[in-house]
Amino acid sequence: MKIRPLAQQDIDDVMELMAHGAPYVRPRTASDYWLCANLFSTTCPVAHHDGQLIGAIIAFRSQDNPDDVYLQDVITHPDHRRAGVITALLTAVRERSQLVGARRLYLTSEPDNAAAHATWARRGFTNLPGDQTTNGVAVTSHYKGPGKHRAIYQLHL
Ligand SMILES: CC(C)(COP(=O)(O)OP(=O)(O)OC[C@H]1O[C@@H](n2cnc3c(N)ncnc32)[C@H](O)[C@@H]1OP(=O)(O)O)[C@@H](O)C(=O)NCCC(=O)NCCS
Repeated sequence: MKIRPLAQQDIDDVMELMAHGAPYVRPRTASDYWLCANLFSTTCPVAHHDGQLIGAIIAFRSQDNPDDVYLQDVITHPDHRRAGVITALLTAVRERSQLVGARRLYLTSEPDNAAAHATWARRGFTNLPGDQTTNGVAVTSHYKGPGKHRAIYQLHL
């Protein structure tokens, strides 16, 4: 497996990969990925295996709070899950974030996303306290807008 920053030539493949993430992750527009590849590539690593794009993390360092790096979209191709792909991509994001002086990674997931919950727990993330609990996961109501309840996870660097 090879890990490297997202590049312009990956955009079509990333959109195809993201289509495998439903219902939790969906493709954004080619213009969004152009931004990721050209302005944020070092926090947007992709994983290739035998020439195929098999995983990606789309993350951004906050301009409002430069201590924070937010992981927006995270996906491994269904044929390659539970083989350490996201773990390797997370290491790349973590190393880059530490290098530039960020102090925290954080992300949200949908309350019923058991695979995501297991992944973040295994990788040392804390599920932040919320105002409700779903299947043992702490959830913050309306975090991303009306009706958009989210579990929030963070990892201090
Ligand atoms: C969540 C997701 C990104 C995990 O990617 P992955 O490449 O399979 O993760 P890894 O193989 O690096 O696994 C990380 C750890 O979590 C564990 N894990 C991953 N999926 C799991 C599952 N479904 N159930 C239990 N544990 C799981 C792994 O065993 C591993 O722990 P270990 O190293 O102690 O064995 C993947 O399932 C996915 O793409 N899901 C669809 C999109 C999505 O929901 N994205 C997350 C949005 S927040």
